[in-house]
Amino acid sequence: MLRVGVLVSGGGTNLQAVLDAIDAGTVENARVEVVISNNAKAYALERARKHGVAAECVCPKDFENRAQFEKELLRRVDAYGLDLIVLAGFLVKIPAAMIEKYRNRIINIHPSLIPSFCGVGYYGLKVHEAALARGVKITGATVHFVDEGMDSGPILLQKAVEVKAGDTPEILQRRVMEEAEWKLLPQAIHMIANPQRAACVQAFGAER
Ligand code: GAR
Repeated sequence: MLRVGVLVSGGGTNLQAVLDAIDAGTVENARVEVVISNNAKAYALERARKHGVAAECVCPKDFENRAQFEKELLRRVDAYGLDLIVLAGFLVKIPAAMIEKYRNRIINIHPSLIPSFCGVGYYGLKVHEAALARGVKITGATVHFVDEGMDSGPILLQKAVEVKAGDTPEILQRRVMEEAEWKLLPQAIHMIANPQRAACVQAFGAER
């Protein structure tokens, strides 16, 4: 059973999609052990509690400096013996020590087709504002492994989403979530939890 920890900062709709997919059996051999937020008010923590999942907050302002915050974040993550860390709208830069310790075991969902509209300053609604300002006709979402850079790690999955006339950033954000993010993130976890079957799907195009 893959032991998964989910790091969040906000509403937690991606977390919800993962919890629901595990309940529905579309994600197999995985279990969310803990949800950790940098923001005590994140609704994602409430979603975790409602689901009977441990919910913890590690807030930077409770620490004297960044190094102490990062040390505590790593300590909490370590305490759960996780196989996979999922960043689901976690708006904190991952400490270098955590990347080193969990190399190829941290994934992130980003609401665009990387390498478009990613990197420093591109998060949440800002990504969709930028896509609309540029006038792209196709956007989407990406799940990638996390390395030392910002949105620069190897890409695991991507899904395209149409931009429609009259879209606002909010409307586009919702469509990208519904059509791409809430499907891709559970799919990525299922692939990592079931590597042999994922290889079969790639080779033969269907689950066997
Ligand atoms: C999601 O759209 C996610 O892709 C984005 O934040 C949102 C969180 O929503 N992440 C980033 O922009 C990371 N660069 P949620 O809390 O409802 O899952």
